[in-house]
Amino acid sequence: MTTPETTADALPEEVVAAVRGARRVLVLSGAGMSAESGVPTFRDAQTGLWEEFDPAQLATAEAWQEDPPFVWGWYAWRMHLVRGVDPNAGHRALAELGRLREVAISTQNVDDLHERAGSDVAAHVHGSLFALRCADCGVPYAQEVDLPSEPQERLTPPECPACGGHVRPGVVWFGEMLPEADVAATESAIDALEPGDVALVVGTSGIVFPAAGYPAMARAEGATVIEINPLETDISDMCHHVVRGTAAEVLPALVAAVRDADR
Ligand code: OAD
Repeated sequence: MTTPETTADALPEEVVAAVRGARRVLVLSGAGMSAESGVPTFRDAQTGLWEEFDPAQLATAEAWQEDPPFVWGWYAWRMHLVRGVDPNAGHRALAELGRLREVAISTQNVDDLHERAGSDVAAHVHGSLFALRCADCGVPYAQEVDLPSEPQERLTPPECPACGGHVRPGVVWFGEMLPEADVAATESAIDALEPGDVALVVGTSGIVFPAAGYPAMARAEGATVIEINPLETDISDMCHHVVRGTAAEVLPALVAAVRDADR
């Protein structure tokens, strides 16, 4: 199966018509959604985090058990990075779309940029950087933490006031279960889709499961699946439409076209 590709400056009529005709829009976003805010993706050549850092040393439960300060130093820097950036025009366009259609967002991103743009997020399937909790007793940790402006070789994690354990970021590491409530919220948003609805798949390489399976599940419900991504991905071929452009270019143009057509 090959999917017709178009570029952002030539947003195809069928894509606008599909979103315009939808009652519900499911947004499945990945790291590319936040790239133009200045948050690096994981796998982009040269700029992706996994080009410079080793996920096995930083993003696994084993890595944490081995050396909490090593892992904490990296996540504390990422928290600092995210705190210092703003939602981009793509996030803002999706917030506007939420006022025009029923929108559910399920993101793999651990940042809070959709929320800061004004969207309700149904699910953070890979957790949230800022949802700190004790790694031992699980109690949430709400106190302010020191955030370094550069990746640290090692930084002692805060101590849990309840049990003295180490506080960890609220992200999902490789080998861990996804948060049940977020998976359930995503699955029910997919179940709610009907023929004529749309799934917008924005800025994900479609490599990490189960999130990489959500576009196909949306398609099976009869939704029109539209990928927005400057590059081909593992899921491009299963999409009905592919728009080759960035989130901050394509989404504002798409939402403006839907808004204008609604008038
Ligand atoms: P990846 O880094 O794997 O893929 C990012 C995708 O975004 C690529 O397909 C890029 O082409 C695309 N992209 C880059 N810039 C873009 C832009 N400005 N607009 C739109 N798209 C753009 O990121 P994810 O697919 O989100 O998991 O990665 C999935 C998971 O792997 C992450 O959630 C993380 C990582 O390991 C965990 O931490 C558990």
